[in-house]
Amino acid sequence: MKVLVTGGAGYIGSHVVKQLGEAGHDIIVYDNLSTGYEWAVTYGELIVGDLADVDKLDSVFAAHDFEAVLHFAAHIVVPESVENPLKYYRNNTRNTLNLLGIIEKYKTPYMVFSSTAAVYGMPDEKVLTEDMPLAPINPYGASKMMSEQMIRDLSFATDLKHVILRYFNVAGADLQSRLGQATPEATHLIKVACECASGVRPGMKVFGTDYETRDGTCIRDYIHVDDLAKAHVMALDYMSKGGDSEILNCGYGSGFTVKEVIDVVKEKSGQDFNVEETGRRAGDPDALMADNTRIKKTLGWEPDHADLGVIVQSALDWEKKWQASKND
Ligand code: UFG
Repeated sequence: MKVLVTGGAGYIGSHVVKQLGEAGHDIIVYDNLSTGYEWAVTYGELIVGDLADVDKLDSVFAAHDFEAVLHFAAHIVVPESVENPLKYYRNNTRNTLNLLGIIEKYKTPYMVFSSTAAVYGMPDEKVLTEDMPLAPINPYGASKMMSEQMIRDLSFATDLKHVILRYFNVAGADLQSRLGQATPEATHLIKVACECASGVRPGMKVFGTDYETRDGTCIRDYIHVDDLAKAHVMALDYMSKGGDSEILNCGYGSGFTVKEVIDVVKEKSGQDFNVEETGRRAGDPDALMADNTRIKKTLGWEPDHADLGVIVQSALDWEKKWQASKND
């Protein structure tokens, strides 16, 4: 298929571009390089552009007859979204609206959208199904929920088919360390712990030890980025074979506490580092895990790397390579 990948130079987008390329798809990446990198685009052509630039986006669609759009480009830092909500509504919600306007104009048949478990907010349940009510508690989650709604409404009104993927906690890196998370000032647990293990951060904090979990720290469902990437390639295949629009959780259905994750990072790296136990971070639910029944049934998706040790090792290997390349 001829596909457009917005945000394809970023962490998750670049892993998907790699797998799309390996599967033989014809790829155009559209990315403003605000958090992405040219080197991360391993297949296809990179067009440096912003989704706010509707004329440029239109000219890209005019020049290519896309069969599908995979839309990754977004801001993703929850605390930042609380401090600067309009940044999130502009880049995530308004720019998705811009993209949908062009998709409608050019009658692009298929869309895969990167959504998030943050749309569920602070649910009572620990294992979440796609039918649970959406109640985001921060602008990041709200910006994605609003984008989901626009996509569903456009699909209802036109021939557009979509698969919305709600990501749980994405982590790890390409097993050959060709790609990985290179975000500056990262806030995600596994990335932060790997930076500590590789000596670029002096230590880290555990946010809250009084949660109702086995060791008092939050439980999350960590999914390897290549398992997540595979779901995107399978979603395209599913739609091209006539599959209906769907919303699918992406996670393994099991979880690890913050302390368990840090222990695995210390064990795999052989490095001890300073960990300070502090108070809760605002907006963290006790436990979030995906009920992944629907994605398995709909796409036939099965994970290949559902092992925290593998996730952490790949993240550590990448971190080492990334830090070394910055010192070159
Ligand atoms: N944590 C720490 N110390 C850190 C970083 C994180 O204790 O330095 C804790 C957090 O408090 C939380 C857990 O580790 O309990 C995971 O935190 P992350 O920041 O890695 O991830 P979140 O669960 O907050 O959020 C992630 C994505 C969101 C997505 C969500 C869905 O960042 O975009 O998963 O589950 F919405």
